[in-house]
Amino acid sequence: MPPALDLTLLRHRGDPVTSLLVTDIGELVTNDPQRSAAGQPADVARLGIVRDAAVIVEAGQIAWIGSADHAPQADSQRSVAGRTVIPGFVDSHTHLVFAGDRAGEFAARMAGTAYDGGGIATTVAATRSASDEELRALLSARMAELRRQGTTTVEIKSGYGLSIEHELRLLRLAREVSPHVTFLGAHVVPAEYAADRAAYVDLVTGPMLAAVVEQGAAAYLDVFCEPRSAHAFTEEEAWAILLAGRAAGLGLRVHGNQLGPGPGVRLACELGAASVDHCTYLDDADVEALAESGTVATLLPGVEFSTRHPYPDARRLIDAGARVALATDCNPGTCFTSSMPFVIALAVRELRMTPAEALYAATAGSAATLGARGRIAVGEPAELTVLDAPSHVHLAYRPGVSIASVLLD
Ligand code: NIG
Ligand code: FE
Repeated sequence: MPPALDLTLLRHRGDPVTSLLVTDIGELVTNDPQRSAAGQPADVARLGIVRDAAVIVEAGQIAWIGSADHAPQADSQRSVAGRTVIPGFVDSHTHLVFAGDRAGEFAARMAGTAYDGGGIATTVAATRSASDEELRALLSARMAELRRQGTTTVEIKSGYGLSIEHELRLLRLAREVSPHVTFLGAHVVPAEYAADRAAYVDLVTGPMLAAVVEQGAAAYLDVFCEPRSAHAFTEEEAWAILLAGRAAGLGLRVHGNQLGPGPGVRLACELGAASVDHCTYLDDADVEALAESGTVATLLPGVEFSTRHPYPDARRLIDAGARVALATDCNPGTCFTSSMPFVIALAVRELRMTPAEALYAATAGSAATLGARGRIAVGEPAELTVLDAPSHVHLAYRPGVSIASVLLD
C-alpha cells in the first residue's frame, strides 16, 4: 500500500479547495506510455491504460492517479461504475463563429455539385449582418454541443468576417469561450476584392494582421491555400501571408491539399507550421516532408464524408512516421458536425486507423498542435471525458451512439 498522499500540499494558502476522488474507472486512458502494462502493441501502449483505476482532482488539476484499491481519501467521491475515462477530446480545427445556414448547398452537393469554396461568401454575408448577441448565442450553443460529446478543448478560427472590423469581432467572440483562437482573414478573397486580389493580400498581411497582433486577438494565423479554388489563396499568396504571420509572432496553421494535390503541405512544413489540415491529396514528397518536420498532419474525415471526396491516407502517413491529429473542422460548408466520436469512428472505419491510434490522434495528437499535452497526468488540467462503455474501442464500435460526455461539468 503506497503512503497516503498529503493533498494539503497542493492547496494554495487560504484557498478552500476541495478534492474529488473519481473511482471505479474500469479503463483509464492516460496517454502516458509509462503507465502501460508490458507486452501491449505499440499503439495501445501509447495510451497508457490503467485498469480498475482512480483519479483525484483538486483545484482543477489532477492530483493523484493509481489503483482504485489504493486511492487516498478525498473530500468527496464519485464512482463511474466501471466506465472508461479518457483525456477530453481536443478539437483543434473549428470555424464555430458564424451565422446563416447552407443546408441547400449540402443537398446540392449530395446530388453532384462539387465544393469549391464559393459558398463561404454566403456565410460571410450572414455573419457580417448578425449582431454580437446573435453570434454569441450561436457560438455558446455550439460550444455546449461539443462539450455534450466529450470535447474539452476547442480551437476556433475567424474567417467569416474578412474585414478588419469583422475579423476582430469574430476573434473577440471566440476568445470569450476559448483561449485557442486563430486568425483566418485569409479564408477566401471577399467579393469586394475579387478584381484586386493583391489588395486583399496587402490588407491581410498589413493593417488587418497589425490590428490582430496589437489587440492580442489570436495566437495563430491560418490560410486556405488551394490553387484549385478561385476563391482561396495561391502558393505565392499563401507564402506571403504565412511569412507575415510568422514575422508578427503568430503560430502558423494551414488549410492544405484539401481539393487536390497542391503546395499547402510543403509550405506548412517549410515554414514550421504547427499543423497542416485536411491532407486529403498527398504525393510522396508531401508524406516525406511531414514525416521529417515537426508539423502535424491534421485529418478531418468529416469533410470527406460531407463532400464525397476520397478519405486521406492515414496509414501511409502513420507508417512513414508522420504525426497525425484528428479534428472536426465544424463549419457550415464542408462539415457541420461537432462530434469527435463520429470523427474517430470514420478514422477507424474509413482511414483504417486502429481505435487506439484514432483516440490518441483526437487527444494528445490534436493537443500537440495547440501547445497542450492531452494527457491525464499529475499536475495537468483535469479535463476528463467519461465513456459509457467498458473500453475506448466502443468509440468506433458504437458509431452514432452518444457514449462520451465531459466528466466534471
Ligand atoms: O476547412 N476549406 C476551407 N474552409 C473550410 C470550409 C469553410 C466553408 O465552406 O464555409 C474547411 O473545409
Ligand atoms: Fe477548416
